Amino acid sequence: MIRFQGLTKRYGSLTAVRDLTLEVRPGEVYALLGPNGAGKTTALRCLATLLQPTEGTASVSGADALHNPLEVRRRIAFLAASMGLYERLTARELVEYFGRLHGLDGEHLQARVDELVALFGLGEFRNRVCGRLSTGQRQRVSLARALVHDPEALILDEPTLGLDVLSGQTIYDFISWERSRKKAILFSTHQMEEVELLADRVGVLRRGELVAEGTPEDLLERTGEPNLARAFLSLVSENAPVEAT
Ligand SMILES: Nc1ncnc2c1ncn2[C@@H]1O[C@H](COP(=O)(O)OP(=O)(O)OP(=O)(O)O)[C@@H](O)[C@H]1O
Ligand SMILES: [Mg+2]
Repeated sequence: MIRFQGLTKRYGSLTAVRDLTLEVRPGEVYALLGPNGAGKTTALRCLATLLQPTEGTASVSGADALHNPLEVRRRIAFLAASMGLYERLTARELVEYFGRLHGLDGEHLQARVDELVALFGLGEFRNRVCGRLSTGQRQRVSLARALVHDPEALILDEPTLGLDVLSGQTIYDFISWERSRKKAILFSTHQMEEVELLADRVGVLRRGELVAEGTPEDLLERTGEPNLARAFLSLVSENAPVEAT
């Protein structure tokens, strides 16, 4: 279970996330939407133990990101486009390396790496080092790396950014499969198609505040709009009312 409770993050005088409370249950996929600069990455990074909240908490199954970061890292996969890869390792070497960091070894490690190489098609570029991979190839390696320890919660910041249709589909299929395995999945996106295909629930951030939350159908109903893109625009427009929560 992923939980934000009253999380606020300020950068100096800028409040990037304000009093965010939300939960993602096991077996649930939650899409975090919001215009550029709304605070999605900031919130996800607080949960991923990469930023310290100014107030409030982010936790995974009761482990608090601020006070128990190592436990939280064991319980999550965090994916972000900006993540670096070791440029001189091949994809397989890199995934193996992170597997070892998570305490996997021997046959168990090899079996898990084989599984991820097959799942994300990393065999296609097996002899190339990460420094020479394309954007989409790097993204697939980053995902495999983030998931190597098979954690209970997935936190994905724009997981299909820069991916072609086929690679994007691989990620959709993967997220659906992980949902069926009762993972709690929180992802940010600007792609409404992704939301339609994957999200059980949606949260909309505007200037750091959660202004709406519900199933995709709820948001259509609430806004009276015919599709999610229009509903989203209506919810983030400056004069839209903020939902009382
Ligand atoms: N390290 C930082 N120092 C100061 N301000 C920051 C810092 N990181 C982010 N911000 C600001 O905080 C706000 C929220 O940024 P954030 O990256 O969380 O937005 P986002 O919703 O992920 O946007 P995008 O859709 O563009 O990825 C923005 O106004 C951004 O400029
Ligand atoms: Mg972002």
